[in-house]
Amino acid sequence: MSPFSITLNGVKTEFSLEPRTLLVEALRRANLTGTHVGCDTSQCGACTVLIDGEAIKSCTVLAVQAEGHEVTTIEGLARGKTLHPIQAAFIEKHGLQCGFCTPGMIMTAACLLKTTPNPTEAEIFQALEGNICRCTGYVNIVAAVADAALRLASEEGPK
Ligand code: FES
Ligand code: FES
Repeated sequence: MSPFSITLNGVKTEFSLEPRTLLVEALRRANLTGTHVGCDTSQCGACTVLIDGEAIKSCTVLAVQAEGHEVTTIEGLARGKTLHPIQAAFIEKHGLQCGFCTPGMIMTAACLLKTTPNPTEAEIFQALEGNICRCTGYVNIVAAVADAALRLASEEGPK
């Protein structure tokens, strides 16, 4: 067992895990079960989290590799009891059906909208290419991300 700490949704969190433990496993053991395991082979994107703001598939990273970094999961996105605009947009635009892929989709969208606040439809499709959804057919997911971009832009106010 190796002791190490990760800043998890803004809180420094201590872990003592076998070095081979994947980050996704560590998160789920810490009760952050919004991060899903869909494939464990780095294909589906259901396990996507932000590491220092970058969207990363947490099944591709050892937990110990996140030591000293800031990890944000879907649980850390809402602002207190208020949903994050991306979460609100997914509800409004019906960007989900079973919801299994949704946390990963939202975390990928959060990364995209930080670097590309006004993405084209093509850019949204491209950003989401590592996230698989087997229910929705993607159209509403892309609409939700576009809607989230508008919501975030309107929050910024006049420049
Ligand atoms: S569980 Fe990580 S990509 Fe599928
Ligand atoms: S909503 Fe079911 S997998 Fe995407």
